[in-house]
Parts: sequence; structure tokens; C-alpha cells
Amino acid sequence: MSSLYVPPPACLQKPLMVPHRHMFGPGPSNVPPRILEAGAKPVIGHMHPEIFEIMNDIKSGIQYMFQTHNPVTLAVSGTGHAAMECAIFNAVEAGESVLTEVNGIWGERAADMAERIGARVNTVVAPPGGFLTNAEIEQALVKHRPVVFFLAHGESSTGVLRPLAGIGQLCHKYNCLFLVDSVASVGGAPLHMDRQEIDILYTGSQKVLNAPPGTAPISFSERACQKIFNRKTKPVSFNLDLNCLANYWGCDGKPSRVYHHTGPVTAFYSLRESLAVLTEEVGHVSMRSFVVM
Ligand SMILES: Cc1ncc(COP(=O)(O)O)c(C=O)c1O
Repeated sequence: MSSLYVPPPACLQKPLMVPHRHMFGPGPSNVPPRILEAGAKPVIGHMHPEIFEIMNDIKSGIQYMFQTHNPVTLAVSGTGHAAMECAIFNAVEAGESVLTEVNGIWGERAADMAERIGARVNTVVAPPGGFLTNAEIEQALVKHRPVVFFLAHGESSTGVLRPLAGIGQLCHKYNCLFLVDSVASVGGAPLHMDRQEIDILYTGSQKVLNAPPGTAPISFSERACQKIFNRKTKPVSFNLDLNCLANYWGCDGKPSRVYHHTGPVTAFYSLRESLAVLTEEVGHVSMRSFVVM
């Protein structure tokens, strides 16, 4: 046998062993049987009419979870980082100014992503365990004139849940899009995308939603779409190009959907079911009665 031959690995001859763990961190969280079972249903094609129905259900579920009427609402095939890059890569062009609040790792990471696509990035650092005041944000908006301002609603690295009141309005006063990371918060803390004037909001499947990791809900306001669909240059990522994703998710009003990538259909089943659970659990509580911070 040639020495170039790679023998079958012995480790794969053993049965798969996965422990039962109680997970109490921000995520991944334990997945209830109903959601696990959904993910075990048969694989169908990523362009079959039945998967489009399921994707439509997901879209409605995300609109409910985010409290938004935005038509451009979908789930990115990937984890929270993919949604983060989807937001930044689509909303920002090289040379544009981006501002991030840093009160843990997520503002730093958003800055890193924006730097990688050639944006002019400024960060404003908040005290440990804290967050910026609206006056400090306004000062930074005036100084840096960003096209996008990023903050994490739930900063999982420091445990800070920060209030959002008035920040969307401030951003719009300075012609800036308001981008919010809710990976560790939405579903567990009140959030109203439309009322709080958030332009781009994303989360991940594996935290409050109790689904396996691998899909990331995201939504874009009319204002965000105006900027994104009138870009001078193409987004650096084909995989995350909102033009393509909006079509695959039936958000662009076009009569047919075109193949863009192979959607992770079993992950979509789980996400759909996790949103159904959220709807059942929260549905009886009027979202209007939630206190908006
Ligand atoms: C606030 C926040 N944003 C973004 C992410 C990135 O998500 P993922 O690990 O799913 O890529 C995380 C993950 O812990 C997070 O807590």
C-alpha cells in the first residue's frame, strides 16, 4: 500500500458519545426535545416549495420576536458572527465612517470587522461594567459622523444589558444607521425594533431561542435598505450579499427565488420550532405592555 494512503481513522470506528450537560451560560443553551426533534425531520431540497413555506414561517416569527414590520427579515445561514458581518458588510462601504460602543468584546469585534472592509472606524470606550450615556453617544456622533453606530444590547462578556431609549432617534438626527446586537438578549429582554428605531437587528439561534447554533435572525429597516440597495460598490461577501439573501428569503417582492446557497434546511426546522415556542410562551403577554428601556 502506498505511503500516501490515509487509513480510515480508528476514532471514527467508535460510537459517537455526547454528554448531557446543563448549560447555564448565555449560550448555547439546552435544546428542548420538541426543537431537537424538529431538526431530525427529513432533509428536503433548499428550493422546494415546502422549505419556502417554513422560511416564511421563520420570517413571521422573527418579525414577532423583533417587533418589526420590516419586509427584509430573514435568517442568515451561520452563527451570530455571520449576522454581524452580514450587517456590517452590507451597510458599510470602504472609506465610510463607523462608530462602535466598546463595553466588552462585541464592540471591539464589530470595529475589527468594519476595519477589514476598509471603513474608517472609531470606538468610544465605556467604563467596565457600564455603557455610554446618550449625551456621550451624541458627542461621538457629532465628532465622527458615522454611517453606522453599533452597540450590543446584551454585552455577554460583561453581563451588561444596556438601555436603548432615544439612541435610534439620536442616530437618525445625524443621518446614521443604528445597528444593534441582540444575540444574548432578544427573547429574554424587551426589545421593539420599530418603536426603538433600530435599523439593523440580529441575534443567534442558540441562546434565548434554545435552538442549536447555526442560524442567525436579522432584520433591516427601510432606511437601512435604502442605503444598502443603493451602494456604489458590491459588498465584499457574495455569501452575505443582502440582494441575494433577500431574494432567497422571498423578501424582495420578485416573483421567483433564485439559488444562492444551500440553506441548512434541518437548522431551519429547529429555528422555526423555537420561534413557535417563543410565540406560544410570550404570545399571551401583550408585547405593548413591556417596559421599553
Ligand atoms: C453579544 C454577542 N454577540 C455576538 C455573538 C457571536 O455569536 P456566535 O458565537 O453565534 O457567532 C455572541 C456569542 O456569544 C454574543 O454573546
